[in-house]
Amino acid sequence: MRVPAALLPAGLVSCLAACGGSNGPTTPPTPTPSAGPAWNEVTPLRDAAAARHKLVGAAVFSSGLAAEAAYAGAAARHFDYLSAEYEMKWDPIEKTRGVQDFSGGDAIVAFARANGMQMKGHALVWHQAVPSWVGTLSAPELRIAFEDHIREVAGHYRGRVRAWDVVNEAIDDTSFGLRDTIFLRALGADYIAEAFRLARQADPDAELIYNDYSAEGMGGKSDAVYALVKGLLQRGVPIGGVGLQMHISASGFPPLADMAANMRRLGALGLKVNISEMDVRIANLPGNLAAREETQRSVYHDVVAVCMAEPACESVTFWGFTDAHTWIDSTFGPDDPLLFDAQYGVKPAFDGVQDAYLGR
Ligand code: G3I
Repeated sequence: MRVPAALLPAGLVSCLAACGGSNGPTTPPTPTPSAGPAWNEVTPLRDAAAARHKLVGAAVFSSGLAAEAAYAGAAARHFDYLSAEYEMKWDPIEKTRGVQDFSGGDAIVAFARANGMQMKGHALVWHQAVPSWVGTLSAPELRIAFEDHIREVAGHYRGRVRAWDVVNEAIDDTSFGLRDTIFLRALGADYIAEAFRLARQADPDAELIYNDYSAEGMGGKSDAVYALVKGLLQRGVPIGGVGLQMHISASGFPPLADMAANMRRLGALGLKVNISEMDVRIANLPGNLAAREETQRSVYHDVVAVCMAEPACESVTFWGFTDAHTWIDSTFGPDDPLLFDAQYGVKPAFDGVQDAYLGR
């Protein structure tokens, strides 16, 4: 159901009022039903993607796939490329050193296989979602743990994932140098190349990806990502692709021409490109819900169309697919960032994506 801002939970409504947001009545009227069709009443998005020889993906979590029929049904109907939003990261796998729990990721992999979908592993090396015990290690001990982690996780999923986000978000947002992380401090700048080499040893076939945000267009950070991956290639490091996360606001995102130019220069290196974590926030757009969702549709369409037009761009993955489950904390108004509303009704954003895949 597309819930107008006025229908937000009372707690958020009071916060919005106190936090300077504008939200309307604090006693919401009866929620209105979704204006769009249900998730199972529209042509599968994955059919349009297959016709275009591109992948269309979503980040998911295993308990939703197991417990929510609409969540599982919509995921299976519309997507052919799944990412684990959280459960294949280091912390959920190895909260205690040497004790690994692959159950969450394994459940998502099993769901993907049962529904003819491919898997992208996310993410072997990231400065977040690191088990707390890692922070207690000396540099030599951390090197051993780092190597064990990559070998064991990539080895566990060998033959079951199409690709891995091997290193995630290693470029600093302001200096555009390497982000100051526990891995850089303990292992030196070569930790990135080492991660890719270890992943390749553990999985000879997976496409190995460097993934980052705010590097979608042309500018300092995307230049730094370009230089990083070009350097890795020149050193013979087995990198096969770059993930451009695409967490954007409908009111401000890189020029489409810059996105295309960035994808093209990465493609010219022989790399594949993924739009890897797309969502489009609309909370700070003017107008009513219908107007904001129309703008969102247009943004989704135009950005996905850039990927469709670039041979190097092989996939678009959305970071969730229903507004019922998004990482985005809509403190100052409903960002409603995804393709289906909170009741799994189809939003104009879905139509925009489908039209882009269909070349309309
Ligand atoms: O599953 C546990 C639950 O058992 C526990 O009770 C609860 C409270 O501690 O935490 C739950 O885990 C949370 C997990 O999401 C699943 O909901 C973690 O605390 C929370 O940190 C984790 O957040 C994820 C975040 O990455 C950090 O791993 C978000 O869902 C996920 O959307 C976000 O995704 C990242 C990408 O990996 C990288 N790019 C940016 C993107 C957005 O931050």
